[in-house]
Amino acid sequence: MSARKIIVAPSILASDFARVGEEVASVTAAGADWIHCDVMDGHLVDNISFGPAFVEAVSRHTPLPLDVHLMVTRPDHYFPRFTKVAHSLTCHVEADHDVADTLRRIREAGCKAGLAVSPPTDIARIEPYWGLFDILLVMTVNPGFGGQPFLPETMAKVEFAARRRAELGLDFDIEVDGGITVETARTAIAAGANLLVAGTSVFKAADRAAEIARLRG
Ligand code: DX5
Ligand code: ZN
Repeated sequence: MSARKIIVAPSILASDFARVGEEVASVTAAGADWIHCDVMDGHLVDNISFGPAFVEAVSRHTPLPLDVHLMVTRPDHYFPRFTKVAHSLTCHVEADHDVADTLRRIREAGCKAGLAVSPPTDIARIEPYWGLFDILLVMTVNPGFGGQPFLPETMAKVEFAARRRAELGLDFDIEVDGGITVETARTAIAAGANLLVAGTSVFKAADRAAEIARLRG
């Protein structure tokens, strides 16, 4: 599992929305692998960010894969509005939908399917869905806001997922999202994660390219 490619995905939630095209182009030039887009509906989480038109605008400023994180109560209803531009679409196990059906439909639409688990949620909740997702997103902060501190207790979930992946012979990326810095990235990679979302640490860095290189390790 440590042989998996490390993917660094800056989260545009921490970018300057008024200049989002330049911001996306800047992290693309700085060596980002994917661009992470946080869609929030003010219902599943206590914040409202942006929707499909914004993500479509982002897509015009980078050739990189767009990793769309749907923090919405009805991902089954909204995901089709992103499939044209998204590489991966991640829905929450805590949302109000038929999780297996949503994951299946995301794949049928030609996107990678991701399943996200928030810190208070028992990892056992994902048991029915092994084999149905390409990405397991272990939230390392409570979703809704950037700039929060990393919760180290979430690493037990990453370790569990890496172990189950090997036992079941499955192939999926383990993504961590929230409070990822050069230091916490090392912790997450050691636990088994390979897909690193980083908002504040990349966008607020004086040298974005150096920060992305350091995150990759
Ligand atoms: C939080 C979002 C994250 C957020 C991470 O709900 O899912 O993607 O942008 O921001 P940082 O890296 O600042 O913790
Ligand atoms: Zn996110």
